[in-house]
Amino acid sequence: MEKFIIMGGNRLEGKIRVSGAKNAALPILAASLLSPGTNLIQDVPNLKDVAVMKNLLEYLGVKITSDQQGIKVDAQRAASLEVNEEIMRKMRASNLVMGPLLARFGQVRVSYPGGCAIGSRPMDLHLKGFIALGAKITEKYGYIKAEAKELTGSEIHLDFPSVGATENIMMAAALARGKTVIRNAAKEPEIVDLQNYLNGMGARIKGAGTDTIKVEGVSELGSTTHAVIPDRIETGTHMIAAAITQGDVTISNVIPEHVEPIVAKLKEAGVKVTDMDNQIRVQGTGCIKAVDLKTMPYPGLPTDMQSPMMTLLTVAKGTSVISESIFENRFKQVDELRRMGANIKLEGRAAIVKGTEKLSGAFVEAPDLRAGAALVLAGLVAEDATVIENVHHIDRGYERLEVKYSSLGARIIRVNN
Ligand code: UD1
Repeated sequence: MEKFIIMGGNRLEGKIRVSGAKNAALPILAASLLSPGTNLIQDVPNLKDVAVMKNLLEYLGVKITSDQQGIKVDAQRAASLEVNEEIMRKMRASNLVMGPLLARFGQVRVSYPGGCAIGSRPMDLHLKGFIALGAKITEKYGYIKAEAKELTGSEIHLDFPSVGATENIMMAAALARGKTVIRNAAKEPEIVDLQNYLNGMGARIKGAGTDTIKVEGVSELGSTTHAVIPDRIETGTHMIAAAITQGDVTISNVIPEHVEPIVAKLKEAGVKVTDMDNQIRVQGTGCIKAVDLKTMPYPGLPTDMQSPMMTLLTVAKGTSVISESIFENRFKQVDELRRMGANIKLEGRAAIVKGTEKLSGAFVEAPDLRAGAALVLAGLVAEDATVIENVHHIDRGYERLEVKYSSLGARIIRVNN
């Protein structure tokens, strides 16, 4: 089991480059199943979750090769094989193969997916979308089967703007007969990236980034080259690393508009943030102010930033209230942060964070991906050593975080035992 050992107290200074977005790369890789051609995908981050998706595609018969240009995905010989629980439980985003397999092969059977244990995370909205497109769904023995001789375009109104459901329905509708309209769609930048990729392959989709997406089905998709957008959650995490250590960090490969909700909150907390085209400079100002925040679908503050923001507020001046409105069980970092001296009280789906002057190093465990990142941030400012176990959770979404932070002057190492 790998661990991070962090000696806190160093200011982070210098330049850091953000990798391609995990949450854009995963649906884009899955979407490759829709086309019998070969697609070149660039800026795919080297992450555990991406490896899981690649393995799943290979299992389905997709040929994947990598070189300096990027990842070549050849789905000519793909087949809609049953996907068992061993594969599906590794990552919830495995469910993103459902829409493409259903659309191209007329059927799909998968075990219920797994992933971070941050809430119940049902699939009902995905399935309602498939049903609206004409699929028959059977749920038995922990498996979901969807089948349709031919998918037909339809009007779908999502009860909640689910990211995954919007993506799965968009992908299925790309090969459906006729026009599909998805209302109350998720507006996240990753949905726009998926639209661009699909359209590059020959799909006819517009409206991604707004709450109404229109898909004109086509009979076949071809090949394209696509570069994945930068990861806005990684960007936000680095911004907090700079702010919490009172550092001065320039973050490159950033789309400032995508991180605007995070920047707004950081500025409210007294952090200096300067936009420079595709770079952002973050400087500590000596005082972090308490702020209230609520996670919301995009363009609100992302739920994935909730735990890293909490770490920042544990050392702020004053009391902050954090409301989590997307997932019901996303405060797993709280017990661990308390071990490091944070003063946090939970009241249902809100956390009351009373800023303390100093955190202290402790033995902690990364309970999930973003909560793990929150602990790294805490370790960067805590007195003495922090040992973080279960860093495999962190590796799901951050490319060698310890290497990136070491290059900025942090004292952080990975040990294996
Ligand atoms: C995606 C992101 C994840 C992020 C989340 C919210 C990927 C690979 N993962 O996850 O990092 O935290 O968006 O921004 O892109 N829900 C239902 N029924 C459904 C589907 C979802 O009730 O059929 C609920 C979920 O339980 C949750 C909420 O909707 O409470 C948001 O989930 P969703 O937007 O679907 O998140 P994911 O796509 O799983």
